[in-house]
Amino acid sequence: MQNKLSVTPYKGTRDFYPEDMEFRNWMFGKFKDVLKNYAYEEYNGPVLESLDLYAAKSGIELVTEQTYNFEDKSGRRLAIRPEMTPTVSRMIAAKANELTFPVRWFSIANFYRYERPQKGRLREHYQVNVDLFGSDSITADIEILSLIINVLNNYGATSDMFKIRINNRRFFNDVLCKVTNIPQNKHIELSKIIDRREKIDRESYIEELKELGMDDESIDRLEKMYTISLEEAIAICPNSVGATELKNLFSILYSINMSEYCEFDFSIVRGLDYYTGTVFEVYDKSTENKRALFGGGRYDNLVGLFDSNKQISGIGFGCGDVTLENFLKTHNLVPKQRNNSSKLMILNFPGVDYNKLFALATELRSILPVTLFTDEKKLGKQIDYALKNNYDYIAILGEDELKDKIVVIKNLKTREEVRVPRDNIFSYFNYPNQNETKKVK
Ligand code: HAM
Repeated sequence: MQNKLSVTPYKGTRDFYPEDMEFRNWMFGKFKDVLKNYAYEEYNGPVLESLDLYAAKSGIELVTEQTYNFEDKSGRRLAIRPEMTPTVSRMIAAKANELTFPVRWFSIANFYRYERPQKGRLREHYQVNVDLFGSDSITADIEILSLIINVLNNYGATSDMFKIRINNRRFFNDVLCKVTNIPQNKHIELSKIIDRREKIDRESYIEELKELGMDDESIDRLEKMYTISLEEAIAICPNSVGATELKNLFSILYSINMSEYCEFDFSIVRGLDYYTGTVFEVYDKSTENKRALFGGGRYDNLVGLFDSNKQISGIGFGCGDVTLENFLKTHNLVPKQRNNSSKLMILNFPGVDYNKLFALATELRSILPVTLFTDEKKLGKQIDYALKNNYDYIAILGEDELKDKIVVIKNLKTREEVRVPRDNIFSYFNYPNQNETKKVK
């Protein structure tokens, strides 16, 4: 006998039922409102990409451990996208001659990573990617950080709920040269251990550093970096270009009153290899949510991988739906009443000419969402369906109403019933003119 098929989705992926979609659309809708205010344009790319795209610069962990990859029927090595940055860099490189820089783009798309599902981590997640290409100015970094703050403020979040932790890759690399005994060719490996510092226990962390060849003195000096202020950190490598970038960034953040949201944090490294300058992650201040909500930074060399004549820098971030949802729910930032558009159901009145009901539905659909009940069920059952599915109105067009040239509209929330002239049906919704394009709220 054949086994029954499972109704459970693949591990680490989710089904989005209508109420889940409603929530996701609300969450991304509010995000998009801010992106529109900042004049960002929407783009998208394919779910399948060449595996080489990620092998080039995304980092060994993402490519060998987390990327779903396979060979197509012609033997091409493909990946299901684990992130957007290589795709958008490829798209920018392909049209670089036609675009007017700086370019401000965003997308909302799903990504797949083979990870152990846990709080804040799934195998399929949605990410808002926001990137600004073609500006080397520190004010581009400021624009991206201010956009993040505005997005979170737009949900009602305040500075006591989240923190943007900021570092600089150039500065980080210079400090590693100064304070550790590890040769430069092992700095990527070292940065991966530092990136895992808060995710693994202390003993394993120290053990990994020692295995790489780090001596006790270096470990102590590195340890101090996590607790000192930006000024003290800069004093360790005052001639580092990254130090100057950090100093300038924080001085502007102070002057535009955004410093309360931001802090220097030497442990922010980022797991992806392409970052070159400012790097940052946004964290929930509630200890319930440990995973970063946003992660991003500046990458100067990614677009150049596709065409070495095109050195176009990028700065941007990805924000995941799983971590953002956890944050909003933890801080009670999800309003109960999210959708304010009303809907109406027309009863399928037995014996009434279907054409008349169909015409009423067509007319009303120009101003609000309308369902014409399909089945010949008892009227009580139809009304019950409307109540259970949160309809705001029902419209009744029976034989008596047809004779009197009216439609009865019942408001299911207030229980009020009104007889409305059939040839002036929009008057009930305060839309006297049938050409009116505005929709009922
Ligand atoms: P990322 O740090 O790998 O960066 O991911 C960005 C955000 O996506 C994370 O902070 C988290 O919210 C979410 N995220 C990542 N992986 C998962 C997962 N397995 N489950 C749930 N959420 C996840 C990037 O992907 C960069 N490409 C972002 C970027 C854009 N940098 C510059 N521009």
